[in-house]
Amino acid sequence: MKGIVLAGGTGSRLFPLTKITNKHLLPIYDRPMIYYPIQTLVDAGIQDIMIVTGGRNSGDFLRLLANGKQFGLKHINYTYQEGEGGIADALALAEHFADGHKICVVLGDNIIEGSIWDAAERFRRQSHGAHILLKEVPDAERFGVAEVAGESIVGIEEKPRRPKSNYAVTGIYMYDATVFDKIKTLVPSNRGELEITDVNNAYIREGAMTFSFLDGWWTDAGTFDSLLRAANLVAQSRAREIPEAVAEGAARV
Ligand code: G1P
Repeated sequence: MKGIVLAGGTGSRLFPLTKITNKHLLPIYDRPMIYYPIQTLVDAGIQDIMIVTGGRNSGDFLRLLANGKQFGLKHINYTYQEGEGGIADALALAEHFADGHKICVVLGDNIIEGSIWDAAERFRRQSHGAHILLKEVPDAERFGVAEVAGESIVGIEEKPRRPKSNYAVTGIYMYDATVFDKIKTLVPSNRGELEITDVNNAYIREGAMTFSFLDGWWTDAGTFDSLLRAANLVAQSRAREIPEAVAEGAARV
């Protein structure tokens, strides 16, 4: 399975922080935001990764990440999104890179505590279709919201005023190669973008969507409040890791 990090967009909800740089280069505690989704993919055993970015600061990604040595990678692929077509429009640029393989897509501002290893393993065994990760949240109206009935998702609504559940669709999506044909059939939404929710609903209509629940905390970082929340969650996790590492070291001595 190949990995794709979507790191384009204007980051308009973070103006003026994003006036002179790309949202995904802003700091989350001790690392640039883009480090986290790349690490998510690497931790799931994915080594072949493409970054989709755009705008005036796209060259900074190359300067920051180079060939991905800090993640143990030998190479990173990059592509450039012209304009502001939305998540599905950005993903369409990765068709050539995917080259018929399954893909795991992570939105560049989605940060998780745990690992998606189990979900990735499950999707590697799934013959076709898609797999998404859900997380119960108190503010579902900010996200794509899944209506779940037993073992299946009935539908997803993008930022509904009255959510049908508390299950947010996280920005981690696993797709088979038909995703690119599905994107080609999309029409822009009210906000003028090709919506990833429309891609997911196409898989749901085919009966080809599976899901799991994400363990540990999850946050996006595209607003002032979620950017702060992300930094605090990472800081708390790091504070927990250090005593654990010390204890492990002491146990080895
Ligand atoms: C996007 C998706 C939404 C998803 C969210 C996760 O929203 O459209 O379905 O729940 O990412 O972070 P955005 O925040 O980019 O508008």
